[in-house]
Amino acid sequence: LTHLLTLEGLPKRILLQILDTAASFLTVNQREVKNVPLLRGQSVFNLFFENSTRTRTTFEIAAKRLSADVVNLDVSTSSTAKGESLLDTIDNLAAMQADTFVVRHSQSGAPFMIAQHLNKTGQQHIHVINAGDGRHAHPTQGLLDMYTIRHYKKDFTQLRVAIVGDILHSRVARSDIHALTTLGVPEIRAIGPRTLVPSTLTSMGVHLYTDMAAGLRDVDVIIMLRLQHERMRGALLPSAGEYFKHYGLTPEKLALAKPDAIVMHPGPMNRGVEIDSAVADGPQSVILPQVTFGIACRMAVMSILAGNTNT
Ligand code: CP
Repeated sequence: LTHLLTLEGLPKRILLQILDTAASFLTVNQREVKNVPLLRGQSVFNLFFENSTRTRTTFEIAAKRLSADVVNLDVSTSSTAKGESLLDTIDNLAAMQADTFVVRHSQSGAPFMIAQHLNKTGQQHIHVINAGDGRHAHPTQGLLDMYTIRHYKKDFTQLRVAIVGDILHSRVARSDIHALTTLGVPEIRAIGPRTLVPSTLTSMGVHLYTDMAAGLRDVDVIIMLRLQHERMRGALLPSAGEYFKHYGLTPEKLALAKPDAIVMHPGPMNRGVEIDSAVADGPQSVILPQVTFGIACRMAVMSILAGNTNT
């Protein structure tokens, strides 16, 4: 594996290798992340051309736990603002002896373009990790979601998983669906308004629901998504109150799922829009453990790309 750009087509063997490597970076109680100096002397460049709290920070922590040097490019004060092209920026950062680029971009395909450019210019020793591109893919979020599900539910092959909300604009949903399918989850449900749940998902074996009560019945895992207003370009939407009434996860709606169902959310959450605080902060929520597992999963990806898997 040279780059991690998508989970689509990633073999099950590699997915499991990443999850197992991540597990080795967590302490026995799964609450703390170890220091393992596998990337000493290497440079990780965080290139976030779109906002982020969790992904950018956990990549930084992950790289530091691996003893790498970390550079966070501040895009708003970089020469991108003076018109420098993305690939010129990349060439200059490559000349600073980068080993890994972690790239988030609002344009779907931007990390692919960077990887292609590095390969074409003989710089394929530099790894590219997609940290979320447009509405296309968010592979490390998909991995940490799989880690979380395996941690709490053990066996993927017995699960019903519901993904709820704005699936149309969600790179997280796409990466989750690819990984859940590869890992053998027999039933994936997509729940949301007709305008935000693409019918093409049926070709991936996903069951579509517009009625949240029906979709949540007897599920083991609920993945809530926010409305991605920044990708909607003026689409007609219900008010926050109206949306919450139909698709907000409340304790009453959660009670329709299995009693031991877990509630996940990639963040950022909009409380009172897609999720009630009583659920977000309740006993079935695993939203904060997801963040901790994200550090270990990102460490696993970076160390595997660098060829260090002996943990
Ligand atoms: N889950 C996620 O991508 O969150 P951030 O946008 O804060 O990185």
